[in-house]
Amino acid sequence: MKREQWGSRTGFILAAVGSAVGLGNIWRFPYMAYENGGGAFFIPYLFAMLTAGIPFMILEFTLGQKYRSGAPGTLRRLNHRFEWLGWFQVMICAVIAFYYVVVIAWAISYTWFAVDQSWGDDSNAFFFGEFLGLGDNSPSSLGSIQTHLLLPLVLAWAASFIATYRGVQDGIEKINKVLMPLLFILVLVLIGRVASLPGALNGINWLLEPDFSKIWDLKVWSAAYGQIFFTLSVGFAIMLSYASFLPEKSDINNNAFMTVLMNCGFSMLAGIMVFGALGYMAHAQQKELTDVVSSGVGLAFVTLPTAINLLPAPGVTGPLFFLALVFAGISSHISIAQAVTTGLMDKTGWSRQKTAIIFCGTGFVVSLLFITQGGLLLLDLVDHYINNMALLGSCLLELFLVGWLCKLSDYQKRANELSEFSVGIWWQLCIKFVSIAMLIVILFNNIVGAFKENYGGYSNNEILFIGWGMIAVMLVVAIIINASNKQEVNA
Ligand code: PFF
Repeated sequence: MKREQWGSRTGFILAAVGSAVGLGNIWRFPYMAYENGGGAFFIPYLFAMLTAGIPFMILEFTLGQKYRSGAPGTLRRLNHRFEWLGWFQVMICAVIAFYYVVVIAWAISYTWFAVDQSWGDDSNAFFFGEFLGLGDNSPSSLGSIQTHLLLPLVLAWAASFIATYRGVQDGIEKINKVLMPLLFILVLVLIGRVASLPGALNGINWLLEPDFSKIWDLKVWSAAYGQIFFTLSVGFAIMLSYASFLPEKSDINNNAFMTVLMNCGFSMLAGIMVFGALGYMAHAQQKELTDVVSSGVGLAFVTLPTAINLLPAPGVTGPLFFLALVFAGISSHISIAQAVTTGLMDKTGWSRQKTAIIFCGTGFVVSLLFITQGGLLLLDLVDHYINNMALLGSCLLELFLVGWLCKLSDYQKRANELSEFSVGIWWQLCIKFVSIAMLIVILFNNIVGAFKENYGGYSNNEILFIGWGMIAVMLVVAIIINASNKQEVNA
């Protein structure tokens, strides 16, 4: 059967940008920048973008486009012994898909709540208590399902299901062509609204003001590289599978540059929007900005709802903000689901429709774990180990296998032949040395940190069985799939 293809170059770029631009850009990047030297953070960040982000993106676009299959198939074509890494990446995506969708479901609920600010004056008590029902729970004692989250969870899964079911052109491409322009417009409108409020410029100044003393801190450089790998969705099956639907004659280098630049540009916009709102909030509450900054779940569902309460027309601006979160989340979730279904379809020969039903159906059931009373804690623990260990480990292994055990110069040649402009030898050096060295430093630090102290104060058993255990199971399953293939080859 002929492989599906993107209908247009714009469609592919928007889908790739849709994948990269996600919740991470809105709630992770601004805080990272603020905490790691403000304006000075942009030096390591841009450096990481040029030396790791763009080269990695070019590599994945080249490999996906050349081998025309998802991560397991691509890695198998490089060497049949590498296929397990592809399955490991697919499993990372599956796990992320199971919990990322829950955050989208929260954002859907909050879009509705924002109309009349149903969270009331105490957004903290509302979110953790009334909304999530979090009590005396832990990742291993989850309590009951919060039934009011079922409908938004169904809606969030439905978006990915429809995109996957309808296919590359009629589903993924069409949805992204609507969502991405809308998302950029929404954020620009929100910036326009926020920037004119008192205190907003102060907030933005805080974000951009450079603290050059931080430039010499290795931690800042690790943070910049970590953020680049995370934000670009490279190294864990996503971009390989998107690029596998590129037509035979497709530009690689320019597409990669555009995807990366649009993603990082969006992060800047999100930073201005978030810090503008925080600056206004600090001003309105007569607090220091340092007392109101936060990131992640706390920023989106506790701090910003309080800021929304203080806005002149909260019933309009509030829903727009949460809608932006929903759009950013859905376009990333579609790509994460797509990475899994492409891997499965290539392997089993199942139809797209059958694969979509099986994956999204199973995914919905597993996601129920995360809408229990303790779901947030499980999400936090799983997310930490996936992002800080599995994802970075997978990036490192992929770069090592392709950079050192394959002929990297062949891929450089291929990318250059297809592209409007060429990349030089620096591309190989960035992959073989700079990116790999930075990943080793970050991963080593993360592993040492994990043994020093239990993340989030979770119990030893939870860390062992849920954190490390999950990664071990994923590795073993990936290796078993790879080994069973070899037998097929030998038979
Ligand atoms: N790049 C997207 C984001 O920044 O939100 C998608 C993503 C990356 C989701 C990594 C989840 C993840 F662990």
